[in-house]
Amino acid sequence: MTTGVGTDWQSWQESWDRQQEWYMPDREGRFRIMLDMVEACVGPEPRVLDLACGTGSITARLLARFPNATSTGVDLDPALLTIARGTFEGDERVSFVTADLKDPRWTTGLPYDSYDAVLTATALHWLRNEPLAALYGQLAELVRYGGVFMNADHMIDDTTPRINAIERTRSQSRMEQAQKNGALDWAEWWQLAAQDPVLAAPTARRFEIYGDHADGDMPSPAWHARVLREKGFGEARAVWCSPSDTLLLALK
Ligand SMILES: C[S@@+](CC[C@H](N)C(=O)[O-])C[C@H]1O[C@@H](n2cnc3c(N)ncnc32)[C@H](O)[C@@H]1O
Repeated sequence: MTTGVGTDWQSWQESWDRQQEWYMPDREGRFRIMLDMVEACVGPEPRVLDLACGTGSITARLLARFPNATSTGVDLDPALLTIARGTFEGDERVSFVTADLKDPRWTTGLPYDSYDAVLTATALHWLRNEPLAALYGQLAELVRYGGVFMNADHMIDDTTPRINAIERTRSQSRMEQAQKNGALDWAEWWQLAAQDPVLAAPTARRFEIYGDHADGDMPSPAWHARVLREKGFGEARAVWCSPSDTLLLALK
């Protein structure tokens, strides 16, 4: 998607979205509810931290719906951040920070010391429980009083092993069917990025940083809600769920 006339960032955004939707067909509805809850909690002009932003998927939807919002995207992946920076180049509402959320000093690179909303999707399952709990403590300090944190992600309730197994089988067969219809999976998407003249070098760096993928603990919605309360949020509970994913909201 890089040609002689430059890189078509929008095409990279769209192919990233299709690849993510292969795993989560409800992804777009999940973003919509996240933004409904942002508006309800902190209004239509929020200062947002797009945590583990990837290509800036949340930021793009935020600004399309709330043009007076501002967003800081944080991520560690040099290839996804290249797409994010290319997409929003020249947009003064948006800035990006390269940081590892497991580094206790990651907040020092942020342009603001407080946010109305911290939003994240399909990302924190990359962290183990201990660093995730530490991160939640830092988020409780970053979100202003009355502000909100939302995490949309895979959260596994291990008190329901049979239901979980049924859901895994259902999801697997849907994905196999979608792949027969031409959907790209994670590995195939990264192969495309590695072949692109602009993304090849940052893609090689991201594989040095992460390997293929980092696997965290994927704790239950109840774990997330409890730890968020223990770390300083006033209330926390799910505001949406699908058979595989939960959108958890914590209010400061
Ligand atoms: C599957 S992507 C999701 C991106 C985006 N939120 C979306 O929904 O399209 C997961 C993101 O989490 C980021 N991530 C994982 N662990 C991280 C860490 N320790 N520090 C910063 N970013 C991290 C990855 O680099 C990647 O961009």
